[in-house]
Amino acid sequence: MSRPYYIAGNWKMHKTRAEAAELARALVEGLKDGKHRYLVAPGFTLIETVAPILKGTNIRLGAQNCAPEEQGAHTGEVSVLQLKELGVQTIILGHSERRHVYSEDDALINRKVKLALAHGFEVILCVGEQLHEREGGIAEGICEGQTTKGLDGVAPGDLERVVIAYEPVWAIGTGKTATPEDADAIHASIRRVVGKLYGEAAGERMIIQYGGSVKGDNAARLMAKANIDGALVGGASLKAETFAPIAKFA
Ligand code: PGA
Repeated sequence: MSRPYYIAGNWKMHKTRAEAAELARALVEGLKDGKHRYLVAPGFTLIETVAPILKGTNIRLGAQNCAPEEQGAHTGEVSVLQLKELGVQTIILGHSERRHVYSEDDALINRKVKLALAHGFEVILCVGEQLHEREGGIAEGICEGQTTKGLDGVAPGDLERVVIAYEPVWAIGTGKTATPEDADAIHASIRRVVGKLYGEAAGERMIIQYGGSVKGDNAARLMAKANIDGALVGGASLKAETFAPIAKFA
């Protein structure tokens, strides 16, 4: 079963509009002959600036979060309807910073996943264990649980618009990466869970990205692993010179 490689850049809370436009233009140029699937997810206020630059290119437009409701009295939140209007195609949900800094739990993330899918978005569902969970030997179980709860109630027909990103929390922004072998083992267990829930073929089709200090010099080794289908990149996605080598890994 051959799955496409999918490399996504999560810009987090970085960049002004001028900087975002410059980076987006550089990526369009740098990745135009790239062979994989690509996405960038700018902060909300940058989306309108970046959207026309990416339009018609091989780079998808993502958002980093959305509200669990379509509209209403939700001060400070951003709706799927507002994201759709700007041309957003994909929404990253359950990022560890949402889970651990902003206390989002699996039930809330699951509501967002279902709402985003109902509105036709692709979803990147992030899962990952914290350091004490890895040291306690429960990393697999944590990721399996987050996967199962994140997908609860997702119809089989919608699953093709779901991508899973395995991001061990201790590897995000720390310069520490999981070894390719450790990451691959978790990816395999996530794939088994998807297979159990939706059938083996669905598990085989699921694109599972790795995230956590992915850089140009470790990307190829990670993606050489059978179950690693791409990357969700934070720090190294903020410059075209550091993102392009990952996106065009050989
Ligand atoms: P990092 O972030 O590449 O800076 O570790 C990854 C992420 O949080 O998606």
